[in-house]
Amino acid sequence: MNSTQLPWWKSGIIYQVYPRSFMDSNGDGIGDLQGIISKLDYLAWLGIDAIWISPIYPSPMADFGYDVSDYVDINSIFGSLEDFDALIAEASIRQIKVVLDLVPNHTSDQHPWFIESRSSRDNPKRDWYIWADAKADGSPPNNWLAYFGGPAWTWDEKTGQYYLHNFLPQQPDLNYRNPLVVEAMKGVIRFWLGRGVAGLRVDVIDRMMKHPDLADNPPNPHFEEGVSNPQSRFLRVNSEQHPDVHDLIREFRRTFNEFGDRPIIGEIDYSTDPQFIASYYYDGSLDGMQIPFNFALTMLPWDAKTLQSFIDAYDKAVPQGGQPNYVLANHDRSRIASRLGMAQARVAAILLLTLRGTPTLYYGDEIGMMDVEIEPEQYRDPQGINLGISRDPQRTPMQWDATPNAGFSTGYPWLPVAPDYAANNVEAEQNQPDSMLALYRRLIAVRRANPALVSGSYRSLDSEADDCFVYLREAGGQRFCIALNLGERIRSLSLRGLGQGRIVVSTHMDRGDIVDLASLHLRENEGVVIQLSSST
Ligand code: GLC
Repeated sequence: MNSTQLPWWKSGIIYQVYPRSFMDSNGDGIGDLQGIISKLDYLAWLGIDAIWISPIYPSPMADFGYDVSDYVDINSIFGSLEDFDALIAEASIRQIKVVLDLVPNHTSDQHPWFIESRSSRDNPKRDWYIWADAKADGSPPNNWLAYFGGPAWTWDEKTGQYYLHNFLPQQPDLNYRNPLVVEAMKGVIRFWLGRGVAGLRVDVIDRMMKHPDLADNPPNPHFEEGVSNPQSRFLRVNSEQHPDVHDLIREFRRTFNEFGDRPIIGEIDYSTDPQFIASYYYDGSLDGMQIPFNFALTMLPWDAKTLQSFIDAYDKAVPQGGQPNYVLANHDRSRIASRLGMAQARVAAILLLTLRGTPTLYYGDEIGMMDVEIEPEQYRDPQGINLGISRDPQRTPMQWDATPNAGFSTGYPWLPVAPDYAANNVEAEQNQPDSMLALYRRLIAVRRANPALVSGSYRSLDSEADDCFVYLREAGGQRFCIALNLGERIRSLSLRGLGQGRIVVSTHMDRGDIVDLASLHLRENEGVVIQLSSST
């Protein structure tokens, strides 16, 4: 099968849009759907295949859209269903797919389902959420802790029970042991897939099922008082990831299958265990999710041997026919340029776009956007306000040009714009042949043009140098060698038996030379993509 026959989510590149910060069309300081539409030409120019848009549904915004109060409408901050249909149509003209975020684990406490559920103990929707009695002393039913601070239980005075929320009290968890809830969420899936969405990124998909007896979580042996995040005191083995979740995911998958080949892109636990990530494909039948997000590159130490051993193991662990995937950053994690520095962020770009697996780019990483320093008094993110670990720095407005507010908005942006935007923005980088943007665009173009890079095999090579990571991608007689220097020293690699090749992309954008791989020179922080001469 050549890469043009593959489904889009196997051959394509996903670009995450955080809608509040992408482009504001009406001057209210918050990005919107018309703003995204106005930037589709840019995205087509960049060469990506699909945009995944973080939640755009009606929401009180306690967790900036991850608290949904109506699953089948558009928040007026972002536009309307008509704007959404226009987005699908305009994107489709440019061969761009649209993926939405589905947040099934919890609703907003303002969702009509929850308002009904909390209205009385005998309301028909009572059992749509997870309610439990207090212990004899009035304390919560068990020791589960919420991710955003405090216990995972909130007392409801009126009906005299606690309800469960793994995140904020304003985000009550739905009860998927009630078949009516499963049916309701399948209706939501059908609504959006029927409206032309190409797949759904499913929020905390592995957390939808909890221990049926609400058993206590065991203590976390790695917890250090005063050092660890207080919310990690217990291992979340009973409050989430109950094995029954796999049947629920299978059931969701059957609903997706009604619409042909559209992926479930599932947010699972941040793990560096290849077997754990691979376990969500469901070996053999592949009736799990098409893309269980692999966040390992956001977490592993940026060290050549560590990365190589993880990627080797992960590439093998993904079952035959399953699609690997890689992520460098997202709205919950630091930006890659802040984590690694600008020079290594360029090496990381090569890695992301030349591995075997669907790459997901985070908006702004293609221009080397950095986390923006934000004073604690200005935090908007509830995780920042409650725990001091704010995600605002990585969610700041996209830097489009050198005009006020980086061209993002004519109003007052909801989060500060990076102070260096006048120099670092899309327009400036479009005019610089060696910019981060030029590197990304070149990498994307080279990947798209070469089946070996899209779907070819992956094999790492021993490079002798501990700080270099070298691998081959091959398909149908086409061969590429990717050599990355993750260190600060000049290296000379002798990769025998590979002959000669031509550098088709380099981090420094200043090499297009023919090289002999038996003596390949890499400067510090240099990465190269070499097309080997044996290619046809
Ligand atoms: C996911 C989202 C995150 C959100 C949380 C609760 O982890 O990525 O942004 O806060 O779920 O919905």
